Amino acid sequence: MSLRLPDSGAQVGADGRRHAPSAERNAGPILSVLRRVVRPGARVLELASGTGQHAAALAPALAADWQPTDVEPGNFASIAAWSGAVARAPRLLDACAPGWSAGEEWDAILAVNLLHLVPEEGAAVLIAEAARALAPAGRLAVYGPFLREGRATSAGDAAFDADLRAQDPRLGYKDLGWVMARMGAAGLGVEVTPMPANNLMLIAFKI
Ligand SMILES: C[S@@+](CC[C@H](N)C(=O)[O-])C[C@H]1O[C@@H](n2cnc3c(N)ncnc32)[C@H](O)[C@@H]1O
Repeated sequence: MSLRLPDSGAQVGADGRRHAPSAERNAGPILSVLRRVVRPGARVLELASGTGQHAAALAPALAADWQPTDVEPGNFASIAAWSGAVARAPRLLDACAPGWSAGEEWDAILAVNLLHLVPEEGAAVLIAEAARALAPAGRLAVYGPFLREGRATSAGDAAFDADLRAQDPRLGYKDLGWVMARMGAAGLGVEVTPMPANNLMLIAFKI
């Protein structure tokens, strides 16, 4: 289904390029965390690349071998327009489809603002498959908004979460405790970093 989202990106270029202000805003804070865990030359799989702005900003800043992906082929033109010079061509990948990790090995896997847009079963698959697709010293980086002990952390977050659930009751913010439990069940330890606007960055690693 096609979701009504506050900031999915406005068309800004004849080459298909879309621009999402949120992606531009959070690229810097995300980069500051990733610099700690992504070494130059690392193979990075980005799930749900969206407009492609993060690939364009993060791949050269981290000197990474960057693979953008998305479940929506309609995003590929924008992803390629933004990141064609600094990343691989975008690939179709449904992060919630069981089995997608087969044959994959990545030093880092990044998912920004995705977990709240997929059902709980899909989020559990994403975490389990990403854990399998990590190289031995790899890192899974998950950025976004979360419930804490079942509660939203601001009125704006509560309203957005309610709007998502009204569009599809299977969607909405995931609880931090639930996500950490899924990561633990997948054999991952987790470091939690507070980010601007009540968001979190979860950096998960094999234990
Ligand atoms: C809110 S946008 C975030 C895009 C980008 N990560 C960012 O932060 O700017 C959500 C993206 O998730 C993608 N998406 C939704 N479900 C997905 C799935 N199951 N697997 C991969 N991507 C998915 C959508 O196509 C969309 O590009």
